[in-house]
Amino acid sequence: AIYKKNPIKQIYSDATEFYQHILLTTKLGEVALKYVQERELTSEIISHFKIGYAPKADNILYIFLKQKNYSQDLLEQSGLFIKNEKGKLLDRFRDRLMFPLCDELGDPIAFSGRRISNDSQIAKYVNSPETPLFTKSKLLYHFSEAKHAVNAENHLILYEGYMDVIAAYKCGIKTGVASMGTSLTSQQVYMLRRVTPNIIINYDGDDPGQHAMERAIKLFNYPNINLGIVSLPEHLDPDEYVKKYGPEKYVNEVKAAITSTEFLLQRMSKKYNLFNDRDKLDFINESIALIAKNDDPIEIDIYIQKLAQKLQVSVESLKARLLREQRKIRTAINHQKQIQALYPTDEVTPKQLDNVHSSSVSFTE
Ligand code: UTP
Ligand code: MN
Ligand code: MN
Ligand code: MN
Ligand code: MN
Repeated sequence: AIYKKNPIKQIYSDATEFYQHILLTTKLGEVALKYVQERELTSEIISHFKIGYAPKADNILYIFLKQKNYSQDLLEQSGLFIKNEKGKLLDRFRDRLMFPLCDELGDPIAFSGRRISNDSQIAKYVNSPETPLFTKSKLLYHFSEAKHAVNAENHLILYEGYMDVIAAYKCGIKTGVASMGTSLTSQQVYMLRRVTPNIIINYDGDDPGQHAMERAIKLFNYPNINLGIVSLPEHLDPDEYVKKYGPEKYVNEVKAAITSTEFLLQRMSKKYNLFNDRDKLDFINESIALIAKNDDPIEIDIYIQKLAQKLQVSVESLKARLLREQRKIRTAINHQKQIQALYPTDEVTPKQLDNVHSSSVSFTE
């Protein structure tokens, strides 16, 4: 057969249509439609995100694609099937709500299937295996669509999950993408940076999500990147927040995004008992070390003023401490440069510098 596009892509686009057809027009799809209604997914959402349903059947997709004359070899390569002991191909996805994962052109190249029961014994999401077309670490959910919407909204918003991107879309935010979990990769960061320097991160409000934002901030440590952080209350994820408080409140949360430094300072202060003077001093050391890494004097001013107020210490003493810290950083960078001049092959990575910066401040300078 002669294919217009990559034959595996053709398989994925046929499978996407097939699953969508099952969800929307068949008896087999009724259970999933019920789930879709519970999760408040409208028909507009289903069609924009090409959501479908893989029914509870052994090899219905296989039979459908066989009819379309795909070779056995190709079907095996697609990752959509699992071979049983007898060498028969069985559908990988069964009884799952299907989210197509698309490449930069917007073509489906993999699936993620969500279980529709609340049986926590079964994995919540199952993904296609990696294929020559699909590398999980290089894919962002909804990226090609979000990229096109970026001119209107002037930023991209990074989420953990599909349902969060969809919830944002319902609120009129079309620039949401998902890292599909909390392990953001440097490749995904690169994809985002290429589109816009203005990135908002809104991972889940639970501890893993908040913790992952700290890690994500480090991955975005490039000059000119303008990060905003949205940290939702009550451990809610964006989808849950929208369901509980409605679209307007959610849009306001996004508008109220804070700087990465402010987010990190807030996280830091929670580790300390600020009524205890020793804790307070430790917190000051840690926060000054963070603030000193910033190179915008205005931003620094803002943080110092806030800190002074919060801790009931003078702005002057904090500034004195800050100067000391900045001098330390400059010295460390100069040392690194000297080392680099002596051993030019030892590249100085931002990570190495990071370690130098955060070394504890000595009181007896
Ligand atoms: P979450 O556990 O936060 O799921 O994982 P969610 O997005 O809120 O999903 P719902 O609302 O319960 O349906 C965030 C993302 O991590 C990936 C998925 O991409 C998910 O959207 N994930 C999670 C998996 O790939 N497998 C899993 O078992 C769980
Ligand atoms: Mn989560
Ligand atoms: Mn933690
Ligand atoms: Mn979540
Ligand atoms: Mn959720």
